[in-house]
Amino acid sequence: MVIPDIIIAIDGYSSTGKSSFAKLVASRFGFLYLDSGALYRGVTLFAREERLISRSNVIDPRLEKELDNLDLHFSPDGRLYMGDRCIEPQIRTLEVSSQVSPIAAVPYVRNYVDSILHAYGSKGRIVMDGRDIGTAVFPDAQLKIFMTASDEVRARRRYDEMVAKGEHPSLEDVVRNLRERDYIDSHREVNPLRRAEDAFLLDNSEMGFTEELAWIQGLMQGKFNLL
Ligand code: DC
Repeated sequence: MVIPDIIIAIDGYSSTGKSSFAKLVASRFGFLYLDSGALYRGVTLFAREERLISRSNVIDPRLEKELDNLDLHFSPDGRLYMGDRCIEPQIRTLEVSSQVSPIAAVPYVRNYVDSILHAYGSKGRIVMDGRDIGTAVFPDAQLKIFMTASDEVRARRRYDEMVAKGEHPSLEDVVRNLRERDYIDSHREVNPLRRAEDAFLLDNSEMGFTEELAWIQGLMQGKFNLL
C-alpha cells in the first residue's frame, strides 16, 4: 500500500469525536496526528496562569507580547508541552474549556497557533483536527472532513470524558459550554468554523469506531486508490 504525502484536515463542532477519529485515521494509515485545539487550550492555560484573562474573559493586551516567550510543542506521542512541562491534564479542564473560545477569537493568538501548525504541516503525512484547518490553515489539504453529531450525543461524550477524569460537572454546564463554544467558534470574525465546500461530511451520532474505520477506508480507497 503506497500512501501519498498528504494532509488530512478534520474540522467540526466541539465534542464530535474529531480527535478520536483523527487518532484512528493516523494509526490506521501511519500518519502523525496533531490536535490544533490543544494549542488554543495551551494559550488559554498560559493566559490564566499569567493572569492575562479575567473571569469575565477580558483579555489583557500584554498577552500578545508574552506569546513571544511561550514555547508550546507536541511530544512525539502527540502530547502538548509548555516548555518542559506536559500540560495535557491542565488543558482539558472545564475552566480552560470555558475560556478557550474567546482566546481563540483573538487574531494574534490565531497567528501564533497557525505558525506552529504550518511548521508541523511541512513534515507531510499529517492528520490535523480543529475548526479552520481545511478552510484557513491548510486550504489545499488533499482530504477534508467535516464532523458533526447531535447535541445530545456530543454533551454525553464530553460529560463521560470529564467524569472519567475525576471531574464532577453538571450535564447542564457541559451542554451550556458546548453551545457557547459552537456559537463563538462559528461567529467570530477571523476564520470562523464552517464546512469547506470540498469537505466530506461525517455525522457520527450513531457510529462507533468500526463504522468510522469502514467509512474512512472507503474514502481513502476511492480517493487515493489505496488498500
Ligand atoms: O477541539 P477543542 O475543543 O480542543 O478546541 C478548543 C477550542 O479551540 C475551540 O473551542 C475553538 C478553538 N479552535 C479553533 O478556533 N481553531 C482550531 N483550528 C482548533 C480549535
